[in-house]
Amino acid sequence: MVEISIRTELPGPKARPYLEVAYRYEPRSMSDQVPIVWRRAWRCYVEDVDGNVFLDFSSGVLVANVGHSHPELVEEIRDQADRVINCYDFVNEYRPLLAQKLVEITPPNLDKAFILTTGSETTEAAVKLARKYTGRKEVVSFYGAFHGRTYGAMSLGGKRSGAATKGFGPFVPGFMQAPFPYCYRCPFGREYPSCDLQCFKFFQHFVECATEGDIAAVITETYQGGAGSIIPPREWMGELEAWCRRNDVLLILDEVQASFGRTGKLFGFEHFGVTPNLLCLGKGISSTLPVSALVGESRIMDVLSPGTLSSTHGGNALGARVALKNIEVILRDGLVENAAQVGEHMAGRFSEMREEFESLGDVRFMGLVGALEIVRDKADREPAPDLAVEIVRRAYGKGLLMIAPIGHYGNVLRIAPPLVISEEEAEAGCAILHEVFQEVS
Ligand SMILES: Cc1ncc(COP(=O)(O)O)c(C=O)c1O
Repeated sequence: MVEISIRTELPGPKARPYLEVAYRYEPRSMSDQVPIVWRRAWRCYVEDVDGNVFLDFSSGVLVANVGHSHPELVEEIRDQADRVINCYDFVNEYRPLLAQKLVEITPPNLDKAFILTTGSETTEAAVKLARKYTGRKEVVSFYGAFHGRTYGAMSLGGKRSGAATKGFGPFVPGFMQAPFPYCYRCPFGREYPSCDLQCFKFFQHFVECATEGDIAAVITETYQGGAGSIIPPREWMGELEAWCRRNDVLLILDEVQASFGRTGKLFGFEHFGVTPNLLCLGKGISSTLPVSALVGESRIMDVLSPGTLSSTHGGNALGARVALKNIEVILRDGLVENAAQVGEHMAGRFSEMREEFESLGDVRFMGLVGALEIVRDKADREPAPDLAVEIVRRAYGKGLLMIAPIGHYGNVLRIAPPLVISEEEAEAGCAILHEVFQEVS
């Protein structure tokens, strides 16, 4: 366990000039994170330019699954940088091996992999393929969904009035959203499980009334990340898969965030017993460089002719090589199991805190992705976004780094440390948050 140490005021004297340059030369939209300037990061720790050491509950943004700057990954990058970095879509030594590895570790129906760079590219590509393969035009996603920021991906998003979407319409025609099972704030005012999955019953009604019945695909995150780490009931996902199969509609799972051990399983869908036709992967696939992948059934993946879905940096040798090593480390070092075990411990600690603090309305955990929903009081569940920001700010002051609050109402704290974190280290972070909750209560 490394000592968390804050030795300067925050931001420190060396950080301030960088922040001034950032504020002066970058658009405001760039970031709303706490004012830290990273100098070095390793495992689950971050050192800023002033020498302050933070415990990291962000993993960047759920990227650094094997921990920051893992020495074996750094070595792969160093060695590959000397050989070849980019060769466009000419074959290199690592891209095919990464495709093969992804096919090997995913369910048998997923037998081809297309290597890209960002998560948004994978959701865009999935929808293009689904439309082309089925010859149908409609795509259904869900309220609260986040599938990326490019136009197609954004049009799949499920909060049109949200800051990342409002004012950017009109959106891609033919994309429609249905209610997602946000059980803490059920759109139907029901309680799970006595609700008898009202949301799924409504889904069928939605299909009849809001679509022409010309649906190519349904796309959903396995758990909704940006909406506030919202985990659907297992049966809901099962019902959705069965509906897709019955109606010959493709199921696209967006696991850009939920994959590579984050949820305590290698892939998030393993918790739900479902299998997609197309699977979007990103973030933790490399723990480092921009790498993403669309894994899918060859009958769908091969529908486009050669050269029609390439990408300048997609499958570059550097990214493919580091992703391969990353997957090896995750599997070899038991990081999936560690995420499940430490995540369970943290879920327990925060559930205790929920009993203690009026402002901690809901605690949701799946492996090492957690959500703390901050409210004015438990009875009326009124979201408290200002308080959530204040908690992140105070935690930073004590050496715990978290991402700016997320969620429908901006009131959800995301707990997402690198999967290498030990129980003792996780406990240190929980203790800081306990202190902060005491201060703000
Ligand atoms: C579920 C999900 N899909 C897609 C994306 C978009 O990924 P990227 O920012 O790499 O384009 C994200 C990013 O946060 C995500 O969480």
